[in-house]
Amino acid sequence: MLIQKLTKKFGRVTAVDEVDLNTTTPQMIGIIGPSGAGKSTFLRMINRLTPATSGKILVDDRDILKLEGAEKRAWQRDCAMIFQQFNLVPRLDVITNVMLGRLNRHSNLKSIFSIFSKKEINQAFNALSRLGIAEQALKRADNLSGGQQQRVAIARALTQEPKMILADEPIASLDPMSAQVVMQALREINERDGLPVICNLHTLDTARSYCDRVVGMRQGKVVFDGPPTELSRDVVRDIYGAEQEIDESMTSTSLESASMHHSTSYQNHGFATA
Ligand SMILES: Nc1ncnc2c1ncn2[C@@H]1O[C@H](COP(=O)(O)OP(=O)(O)OP(=O)(O)O)[C@@H](O)[C@H]1O
Ligand SMILES: [Mg+2]
Repeated sequence: MLIQKLTKKFGRVTAVDEVDLNTTTPQMIGIIGPSGAGKSTFLRMINRLTPATSGKILVDDRDILKLEGAEKRAWQRDCAMIFQQFNLVPRLDVITNVMLGRLNRHSNLKSIFSIFSKKEINQAFNALSRLGIAEQALKRADNLSGGQQQRVAIARALTQEPKMILADEPIASLDPMSAQVVMQALREINERDGLPVICNLHTLDTARSYCDRVVGMRQGKVVFDGPPTELSRDVVRDIYGAEQEIDESMTSTSLESASMHHSTSYQNHGFATA
């Protein structure tokens, strides 16, 4: 994927400002940066949830930003999105939530229960086992812990058979232990399936531990792009702002920030397989 001068303006605010990004091998890329840097907007432009103002996203010589109709939907199916708030259907059981990842492969939606083949049901169970939560399959999604729900969302993404995974702050609502499990799952998918993963993270230590490549954004611009080993103190200060002295723990997953986010966990029930 070759991203050239990707830009998004909201009125007078330039949320993403001429961002270039070139990926060749299926890397695990972490995008970091302060709140408002444009991380979410950047990811949402890649899978066409947010229309770009200008720029190009070239994949196999096609400009993704120009795709319409069925071709656009096919692209959206190819890049599975993972959200901070999981976006499961809370009252449905886990296995059905996972099979919803198949929905956009069916042209006619008649009944959820009659359209899935045995193969698809097996596929959904396999995805759950792979994520270590097969025994939760028949529980209602809203009876699971946050970490388990995010693993269900990842299983749903896998049944979509994507070519890429985009994750927007996948661990921001999770406790540190669950956060580790979820990051390990994404890393394992990246390595074993060879799927590129682009992951917005608000914690520096997570980017350091799990990513091959870190992209630092500030005010819509990429101010760093390199391996985690090159994230020196100066670079970090450049990303998060020179005004404040950055302490690594400040940008790391803390129990306090996890519980702060947790209270909002169930508010967003929007279901998106995009
Ligand atoms: N729908 C919108 N309408 C207007 N402005 C928007 C919209 N979405 C984002 N913005 C603005 O674009 C900028 C980038 O926002 P974005 O959500 O991409 O940042 P972010 O890096 O994901 O931040 P955070 O870490 O808080 O999630 C911000 O100034 C934000 O206020
Ligand atoms: Mg964001």
